[in-house]
Amino acid sequence: MTLALRGAVQILRPPEDGLPYLRHDRAAELRLEPGDVAIDGGHIAGFEAGAADVELDASGCAVLPGFVDCHTHLPFAGWRAEEYERKVTGVPYAEIARAGGGIASSARSLASMSDAAVLAQAEDLAAEMLRHGTTAFEGKTGYGLSREGEERAARLGRALGERVVQPMRLTGLFAHSVPPGTTADAWMDEAAALARGCDVDALDIFVESVAFGNEHLELMGALARETGRPLRAHVEQFAAHRSVPVALEWDARSVDHLSCLHADDIAPLAAAECAAVLLPGAELLGGEHTPPARALADAGAIGVLATDLNPGTSPVASMPVIIGLGVRRYGWSVREALLAATLNAAWVLGWSDELGSLEPGKRADVLLLDGPAEHVPYRFGHNPVAAVVAGGELVWVRPDQEWRVRR
Ligand code: NIG
Ligand code: FE
Repeated sequence: MTLALRGAVQILRPPEDGLPYLRHDRAAELRLEPGDVAIDGGHIAGFEAGAADVELDASGCAVLPGFVDCHTHLPFAGWRAEEYERKVTGVPYAEIARAGGGIASSARSLASMSDAAVLAQAEDLAAEMLRHGTTAFEGKTGYGLSREGEERAARLGRALGERVVQPMRLTGLFAHSVPPGTTADAWMDEAAALARGCDVDALDIFVESVAFGNEHLELMGALARETGRPLRAHVEQFAAHRSVPVALEWDARSVDHLSCLHADDIAPLAAAECAAVLLPGAELLGGEHTPPARALADAGAIGVLATDLNPGTSPVASMPVIIGLGVRRYGWSVREALLAATLNAAWVLGWSDELGSLEPGKRADVLLLDGPAEHVPYRFGHNPVAAVVAGGELVWVRPDQEWRVRR
């Protein structure tokens, strides 16, 4: 099966092939040049297209690699809209959490919903993500809040991966919230058993006054090292706890949120191979501080954008919306935002050798937009995705763009 996208005004390509990531001080080197994309047998074949089984007219449009959403909390159960209303009318997240809301409330929903219902909700969201250009994503455990609950969450995460179009990585967020009736210290024994026993690709922890501390981050770092998995961490979301130096000591693959990142931690983070995963959906909807994203980019960090899709802080499935927020809030260029949503996000998931950029031999996850790349952040709230190719298959065409397809 061959597929061709013909006559694009812009094709987003890295400055050279084979890069595992591109530091943000080099984002201006990304190329946005006219051309074609040829796809053969599920992979990118080259940038001059002959006749193909399926052809897409890309005139006037940009062609991008599919978005990689490297931080979501799928699968989760239900939503928390009433909590959002309380939050915007003045009740702080920590207070909502202490009153049994927040993560504990989603844990109760998960416990009360059948496997089939949880998976149906998550599959619908993965389909919505696909229509907005997400061709690979990550999900997490974390709403189980008991040994059995987290084991079930890990099984459900893997079951979701079997059902969706996108390749999916699963992270064990085994230290998300301290379950009622226990302490953070005591729960880490359970987290250790879960980390050793569950089938997950990476480990994660939420470091915050309402959750776990830096000493628990060290324990999770040791577990990640022992079990040979990458360490990820939710840090500096609501306050500065100076967790980044601890995460770097334990060779974290990413530190996520960073709204309250301490100024002294910018340079060491930017020099590391640890990605700075920024989550502007949670920042906006949670009224959080804005991370020093311009400084991180200028210092050469591996910058990443993700949705943080979850029922509490960021019920946002659209990467174009996140890109729009990143550009506006961080003063990032279009190239910086697109880099953060593709190749660098693939690095976080350990997939940048296979996907995340348009290079010969890589998996053909390709987006045809309905206009130039600059429109992605500029037409904020509009879905710019006209067609989605995933693994070399044309999996989604927006109804008004069908005229571009010749099968
Ligand atoms: O990434 N910060 C911790 N975890 C999630 C929120 C989870 C929730 O509120 O349900 C986050 O923002
Ligand atoms: Fe998160």
